[in-house]
Amino acid sequence: MSTANRHWILARRPVGNGYAEAFALETETLPALAEGQILVANKVLSMDSGTRMYMTDREDSYQPGTPLGAKLIGTVLGVVVESRHAAYKAGDRVRCYGQWADYSVVEPDATYCTGLDDAHDDLKAYVGIYGANGWTAWVGVVETGAAKAGETFVVSAAAGCTGLMAGQIAKARGCRVIGIAGGAAKCDLLTREYGFDGAIDYKAADVEAELARLCPNGIDVYFDNVGGAILDAALANMALFGRVAVCGLITNYIAEGPVPGPYRFDQVLMKRLRIEGFFSPDFYAREPEFNPQLARLAAAGQLRLPFEVSTGLEATSAAFTKLFTGANIGKVVVEL
Ligand SMILES: NC(=O)c1ccc[n+]([C@@H]2O[C@H](COP(=O)([O-])OP(=O)(O)OC[C@H]3O[C@@H](n4cnc5c(N)ncnc54)[C@H](OP(=O)(O)O)[C@@H]3O)[C@@H](O)[C@H]2O)c1
Repeated sequence: MSTANRHWILARRPVGNGYAEAFALETETLPALAEGQILVANKVLSMDSGTRMYMTDREDSYQPGTPLGAKLIGTVLGVVVESRHAAYKAGDRVRCYGQWADYSVVEPDATYCTGLDDAHDDLKAYVGIYGANGWTAWVGVVETGAAKAGETFVVSAAAGCTGLMAGQIAKARGCRVIGIAGGAAKCDLLTREYGFDGAIDYKAADVEAELARLCPNGIDVYFDNVGGAILDAALANMALFGRVAVCGLITNYIAEGPVPGPYRFDQVLMKRLRIEGFFSPDFYAREPEFNPQLARLAAAGQLRLPFEVSTGLEATSAAFTKLFTGANIGKVVVEL
């Protein structure tokens, strides 16, 4: 079967958030599948801020940089239309590392690919609560952060996908939860709609002073999505034996070279802190363990996730940009 396929390539390295200039949409006729490959009709492209790091040529990230001219890749949800792999057949719903394209050619034995159960008709759920962001939020709160009832839990990028779920999971565990987000509207949403006990607008407030006010006994767990100045503000307010669960460092992703700081590293010793990063591909295989826990919270109304949906492949660069301008609440996806 020969298939015309539109796909995005990395035409040049993005400067700042100049994704419209950096990405180019091309069309090719896909060659016949090789043995072991499947052809997936993409239905949902997951927009993930960590992808920004792979658009550089740095070699110290958790994945090699994308060469110029190469197809942009990421997590996609779709339906198998043709298979030359024994474990997949046409019609199967899958989640895999695919291409930002109409169709993805995937080698399940060489890259992440998994069939989906039929628990959710809405495919988007599998990159939301029941996908890498949901599992990341769970691991960061429950395992890395080891958040316990009665503790004070702070999360940054709190109205975004991972942060919003982390805050709700911590709340469900009985923590006092403070979110940090950009803008009064997001902060209002966190406290009014999502049960956060407090919220700080980092674009308007003195974050360090507000954390001191809202966390008078110190922060037991800081779930960090951003790094930078907000990490320093949190470090200055940690409780004795607090934990910093390092999920993401979005303030660093557009930097050209190493970023200085944190400047309050002294607090690691003064407060006997534990700082630990965690990375979702390390625990993808634990999906069967995580999903029932997350489903239990969702069924109890304790875990909800809105989607920020863009439609059509051509909308991809604008959708990706939303992650860095804060134009999203919840999970950013492109539906095809
Ligand atoms: N460790 C892992 O395995 C893993 C897995 C998934 C995600 N992550 C990380 O989790 C973080 C959130 O990712 P996501 O995909 O869920 O995206 P997201 O939170 O849905 O969107 C990113 C949010 O970050 C905030 N932001 C952007 N630039 C910022 C800046 N300079 N300073 C402060 N806040 C900024 C924006 O909200 P505001 O309006 O509040 O600025 C934006 O909505 C990222 O750091 C990502 O790399 C890690």
